[in-house]
Amino acid sequence: MTTTTTAAGESIWLFGYGSLIYKVDFPYLERRRARLQGWARRFWQGSHDHRGTPEAPGRVVTLVAEPGAVCVGMAYRVTPAVFAHLDHREKNGYRRIAADFRFDDGSEVRGVVYVAAPGNEAYLGPADEEAIARHIAGARGPSGANRDYLLALAEALRELGSDDAHVFGIEDVLRRIGDGTTD
Ligand code: BEZ
Repeated sequence: MTTTTTAAGESIWLFGYGSLIYKVDFPYLERRRARLQGWARRFWQGSHDHRGTPEAPGRVVTLVAEPGAVCVGMAYRVTPAVFAHLDHREKNGYRRIAADFRFDDGSEVRGVVYVAAPGNEAYLGPADEEAIARHIAGARGPSGANRDYLLALAEALRELGSDDAHVFGIEDVLRRIGDGTTD
């Protein structure tokens, strides 16, 4: 990955595609909308520690390699010290990997992204959007309702101008369930 040395020291770009878009509880030097090619955002990762429990995991996003896919997110230029906090916050099956992402002006940078790969201890894998929405509707953990995570992410993606059919499809079902117009 590319590290840049500034007056403030070394910095690294981090690509955020989930809660890092809307829950920014870490300092950053710069923030820019970015796109990651070849990866899709999917609610395929279990959450034992934030939006669920080990006995009743919630569902949160990870990235899945998918040729032709483009994931829109927010990139942050951070100092390495920030990872002590984020590695702890995102410890439930996620690993940092190197990735190349592109900014709106067409420039590209090599940075890092957290990915929860298949086979990690909390991985749940694919399910259809109806089943994922129903799962999310019933889950809750120390960070709050799983539903609130999904709705906050969907809102943040609308603000970013991302047309994420997977997330918005789950949101639609979840809102219908909430309105009592399904079942
Ligand atoms: C993110 O928003 O990039 C993110 C999602 C899940 C775990 C870690 C980071």
